[in-house]
Amino acid sequence: MALLEIVKNPAKVLETKATEVTTFDAKLAQLLDDMYETMVENDGVGIAAPQVNKSIQAAVVELGEERDVLELINPVIVEVSPETGVDIEGCLSFPDLYGDVERSLYVKVQAQDRDGELYELEAYDYDARVIQHEIDHLHGILFDKKMKKTYTLEEIEAMYAEEDEEQ
Ligand code: CO
Repeated sequence: MALLEIVKNPAKVLETKATEVTTFDAKLAQLLDDMYETMVENDGVGIAAPQVNKSIQAAVVELGEERDVLELINPVIVEVSPETGVDIEGCLSFPDLYGDVERSLYVKVQAQDRDGELYELEAYDYDARVIQHEIDHLHGILFDKKMKKTYTLEEIEAMYAEEDEEQ
């Protein structure tokens, strides 16, 4: 495995719709392994291939308290809830930017795994948020365009410090 360089905004690859994956080979598996390692190293919960300068429809996310790893190849959102929620997001391609983004609280996704097998997944709340953020990346859509309010890293740290005091 190898750590990959993360493409930072602004970059054309981040704003380009990624192409469909049609070959499910060892090279794809290697890329997914490297993306996972790069995500963990950078404390992310999701990473999309364009963020490592590969314009293909592939993303890796960590879901739930167990931080289950899920690989989304050619993912399509087939259902969303009308109910939305607003929460703070960050992005590996925007090291110092955090902000409130409105997302659906539920999504149903169809995707392929690294072997090309189709599967369907339902996700709620923060998991649904992470999936929507990563699928946006595959369409060249960045979270800064969807932000309702932005925060600096200092403001985020202060918020977490307050939460810690309350507990
Ligand atoms: Co991102």
